[in-house]
Amino acid sequence: MKVVAVYSTKGGVGKTTTAVNLAWEAAKDFRVLLWDLDPQGATTFLLQVKPKVKGGVGALVGGKNKVSGAIRSTAYANLDVLPADASYRDLDLVFDQAKKSEQRVAKILGQVADDYDVVVLDCPPGASLVAENAIFSADAVVLPLVPSPLSMRSLQQVAEFVASISKAPVVAFLSMVDRRKTVHREAVEQLPSAHKSVTDVVVPATVQVERMGTERAPIGSFSPTTEAARAYGSLWARVQAVVKAKARKHKR
Ligand SMILES: Nc1ncnc2c1ncn2[C@@H]1O[C@H](COP(=O)(O)OP(=O)(O)O)[C@@H](O)[C@H]1O
Ligand SMILES: [Mg+2]
Repeated sequence: MKVVAVYSTKGGVGKTTTAVNLAWEAAKDFRVLLWDLDPQGATTFLLQVKPKVKGGVGALVGGKNKVSGAIRSTAYANLDVLPADASYRDLDLVFDQAKKSEQRVAKILGQVADDYDVVVLDCPPGASLVAENAIFSADAVVLPLVPSPLSMRSLQQVAEFVASISKAPVVAFLSMVDRRKTVHREAVEQLPSAHKSVTDVVVPATVQVERMGTERAPIGSFSPTTEAARAYGSLWARVQAVVKAKARKHKR
């Protein structure tokens, strides 16, 4: 089982959009679990799953409830979701009170190691204990970068934070790119060649991506030929190569 954390210190950069689309891409070949770690529950909403964890996430962390009981299937083959509900607002505190508080996510995932090939974690923003847990468990950390004079800082911050926790590689890519803006065009031309952790994948800012919110579906399921959908396909290929997920088909 390979674990991919989609993470940034920043909000609104496209983490959830990336997590949903990467998981959908991965589910073409693998058994995938997408874990919504953000109390806002955007991933849960986008995949039309009820935002309800029986007993709350605390019962999962404490071992009172099994994680398999909280996992829900989606409209897509091989793609399951572990949804978030309001109880996730207290997850930092729950972890803080637990033993080995940065290893709880990894421990919970151990329960389903035989059931899934790929786990995608949709992280909340910030350098919280939840993020630390996600990074601790991750084989790679995927970082969406919105072009701006500050995006290099965000790359550096995330790289340092990740390095303080694990040896997981950071796979960064440019997200929400508007080529009409000079800063964005410059970022596309310069960043991937200047930094080895920045891939050449570019996800454009488009209305089709925004439509995910009304369709409540991965972009590839309703607009597969768009540049954005293809970019997420390329991103999964890059991530798959980094985590070395074995390309063996699982049909259920
Ligand atoms: N490539 C894109 N083009 C247009 N809108 C986007 C794109 N990526 C994300 N968005 C929109 O931006 C908002 C924030 O994206 P989201 O994935 O929720 O970010 P985060 O999880 O980092 O907070 C959402 O409304 C989403 O639909
Ligand atoms: Mg999000």
